[in-house]
Order: sequence, then structure tokens, then C-alpha cells
Amino acid sequence: MTQYGVDQAVHILRNGGLVAFPTETVYGLGADATNELAIRKVFQTKGRPSDHPLIVHIASAAQLSNWAAKVPKEAILLAEAFWPGPLTLVLRKQPHVFESITGGQNTVALRIPRHPLALALLTAFGGGLVAPSANKFTRISPTTASAVREELGNEVDMILDGGACEVGLESTIVDLTSAKPLILRPGMISAEAIEKVLQKSVKVARQDTPVETRAPGMHHVHYAPVTKTKLVKSANLIKVISKLNANELPIACMIYSDITLPTTPGISWVNLPKDPAGYAHELYRTLRAVDQQKFHMIIVEAVPEGVEWEAIRDRLIRASG
Ligand code: TXA
Ligand code: MG
Repeated sequence: MTQYGVDQAVHILRNGGLVAFPTETVYGLGADATNELAIRKVFQTKGRPSDHPLIVHIASAAQLSNWAAKVPKEAILLAEAFWPGPLTLVLRKQPHVFESITGGQNTVALRIPRHPLALALLTAFGGGLVAPSANKFTRISPTTASAVREELGNEVDMILDGGACEVGLESTIVDLTSAKPLILRPGMISAEAIEKVLQKSVKVARQDTPVETRAPGMHHVHYAPVTKTKLVKSANLIKVISKLNANELPIACMIYSDITLPTTPGISWVNLPKDPAGYAHELYRTLRAVDQQKFHMIIVEAVPEGVEWEAIRDRLIRASG
């Protein structure tokens, strides 16, 4: 992307416009975090309920205290270890931070993304940008510029194209406002990696019960295709498929393991990488592509139990409602 793209984006943002930009996780729908009208446009464009708080993206940890009233030692340790990168910190907010950003809470979520274009944009802009994932409410987050275009069309003033997002899943969110750090949303930075840096145990908010009070964006149905999506354990896959009636076909079946595939008509097999990083990178793009093909159903092979699959498991459970 040329400097021209960044300059134009900054101009649009300073005038209260919306700019979608790439981060290493997913594309964000960016707006000036000090402009109430621009923030309102973000909610309208996404069709997102107004009590769902937004993450403020910044260019450097030196800006943390502009937004956070208290920057605990844990925040500094995690920032040093993982920023720029796919980690969001929830801290006590400064009084001036709009309630429209925080969903009326006294906390604010902050993150420094590591995509070079996001960093160039944030540096040139100089201030904070709110940036929810650039999709319609409850839909699959976009991991390419063309996916943003599909989601938001001309409702966004500009889309900066930075290619396919490296990580492919939203950031890990850690709440540092109570005695024990609490992971509100799992991401590719695991609880273990965070514990190692903090040298203490962290809690993980249960993902099977709504945590609406703390992270209202964590809806039960989220990241969801339009096509009915079902999660099936590897061991049951062949059995489930063999029981399908003709009127339930065609279906797509997304797998990662080495299963001997029956060549049943009406079943499209879609392979995903076997390693968690590769799988995360491909997941949303694959779901989006499969969703457009008008299958009667998408069957997704459930992923392994290990901690390195936690964020992927979380998104698959939400995608299947
Ligand atoms: O990777 C990401 O985090 C991406 C990229 C664009 O940075 N952004 C993203 O934003 O996923 P969004 O708006 O789709 O999800 C933000 C999540 C929501 O679940 C929201 O509830 C939570 O962050 N959140 C924001 N502020 C919060 C706060 N003060 N307390 C608790 N949760 C908060
Ligand atoms: Mg989102």
C-alpha cells in the first residue's frame, strides 16, 4: 500500500469517516475514537447493539495512559511480551473515554496490532482508532479486503488492502481489572503463554455460558455462516454422513484429519491444515467461501482437545450456534 493510501485514510478518519484496515487477526472497521458521530456510524454500519464495547487500537504502549486510568504491572509485562500482536488488554478507563466505546462500563479494551499497514495508519493518525471486526453483527469476520467489501460494500468510505490476515482469528482478550487476570475471549495467544509471562495463574471465562456482562460481544451465536453449520466429532463423521437423506444434500464437509473419504455424491470435502496456526489462518476464509455455495448444511469436523486449539474450538462452537 502506498503512503497515498494511508494519507487518504487519515484524512477520511479525521473527518469522521470509516476506514476498514487489515490487522494480523482480522480486518477492522476503523473510526476516530474521539469522535462520537463516527463511533455511532460504526455501530450502524455493523448493525451492532450499542452496549457491545469496542477495542481502541493504538500505535504504541506510550499511549496506554491516554486511555487507561491505571496501567498495572501485568499490563506492562504483557505489552512487552506480545505487542504489537493479537492481544487485547481490558483496563480501567480514563474518565474522558466515551461510554459508547465501553458499553457503559468503567473499563476500556486496548490493543496494538502488528500488521505493518495498521501500524502505519495508527502512527500517521496519531490517536486511537476503534475497530471492531469489519463484518455485520454475528457474521464471519473478514480476513481479506474482498471479504470486507462483501460485508460492508459502500457503507465504508475506504478499505485499505493489506492481503490475507496472518493469524485469521480475533485477538485474545485479557481483563486485568480484578485480582486475577481473566481471559474473556480465547485467541491464538494462549492462557499458558500469558501465565508464563505473568508468572501467575489466569482464569478463563467459561465460553459455554454467556459472559455478556463482561464482554457483551461474546454472543452465543457469532462468527456464523448463513448456512446451517454442525460440528461433528471425527469418530462420528462417516456415520453421520452415511445417514443423510438425499433431500439433505448437497453438503460441505470441512475436515483436517486423514479420514478415508467416501466419494458420496452430494458431499464436497474441504481440507483444512492440520496445525492450529494454519487452520486458524484458513478458517474464516474457508467458511465464507463454502457459505456462498448454497449447500444445505456445512459439517465441520470437531478439532482436537489441546490448548493450542482452544480459540478455534471456541469459534467453531459459536459458528454452529
Ligand atoms: O482481533 C481483534 O480484536 C479484532 C481486530 C480488528 O483488532 N477486533 C475485534 O473487535 O475482534 P470486535 O469488536 O469484533 O470484538 C471486540 C470484543 C467484543 O467481544 C467486546 O465485547 C470486547 O471486545 N470488549 C471490548 N471492550 C471491552 C471491555 N471494556 N470489557 C470487556 N470486553 C470488551
Ligand atoms: Mg467481531
